[in-house]
Amino acid sequence: MSLTGLFLCTFLVVHLIGNLQLFYNDGGYSFNKYAVFMTSFPLIKIISYGNYFFILFHAFWGLYLEFQNRKARPVAYVVTKNSSSFSSRNMAVLGTILLVYIVVHMGDFWYKYHNETLPFVQYTENLLTGEVVTTEMPETYSQETKMVETYNQAESTKTVIVKDLYKVVSVSFQNILLVIFYVLAMFSVSFHLVHGFQSAFQSLGINHPKYNPLFKFLSVWLFAILIPIGYAAMPIYFYFFK
Ligand code: HEM
Repeated sequence: MSLTGLFLCTFLVVHLIGNLQLFYNDGGYSFNKYAVFMTSFPLIKIISYGNYFFILFHAFWGLYLEFQNRKARPVAYVVTKNSSSFSSRNMAVLGTILLVYIVVHMGDFWYKYHNETLPFVQYTENLLTGEVVTTEMPETYSQETKMVETYNQAESTKTVIVKDLYKVVSVSFQNILLVIFYVLAMFSVSFHLVHGFQSAFQSLGINHPKYNPLFKFLSVWLFAILIPIGYAAMPIYFYFFK
């Protein structure tokens, strides 16, 4: 549980950094190119399959352990409040909410990107000035094609035609119910990780007065505050500002 949990924590950091490109004011140019890289580069593809496996393993093994714990102690503890935190007592519930979130979320973006007919968009970048002109594509390209790059040396331009995942994200986050769902789910991320991140080190036997404050600091400031706020900011930004 601890190793897969720490792997998923690392994924959350990388996924957030990549998705921050949604905030660039470039019509999705950077984000769409990044999506092609993330879904075509062979090493990343292998890590992705590992990621799906670790999510399922972590969720179902966690539920199994919770079930075993309850079987071993059918009568609940009388006093819980003084000895344990809200997060540590509710890891299985919070994790289940996250699993539901991930299924909905992958249905929204990952499934559509891989299986549905997406629009294409063309970006023409002036290589001298860096200026980018965005044109929505009238033609429907073969969905097998993720990106076509061409150069025009005479005009010093680069043209990129790419599947428009940015548009899928931006249209999805016009739905207020989805925005609320995403924001609420980030509370589960926060409560699950404020306990989970530091607890993983305890489980691995890495329990040292010198390092424990660092694990605690990262649990609170990085995983329970910064990361959930970063993710929640995305649906909010698209709903209110796009
Ligand atoms: C709220 C902001 C978020 C946005 C805008 C977002 C966006 C996306 C997009 C566009 C994809 C599909 C493209 C791709 O496969 O790389 C994706 C995939 C994914 N997202 Fe997110 N995401 C967000 C938050 C999260 C959170 C909080 C989690 C986990 C709790 C998560 C878990 C995943 C997973 C597991 C995948 C599949 C990755 C893969 O194929 O390797 N996402 N996300």
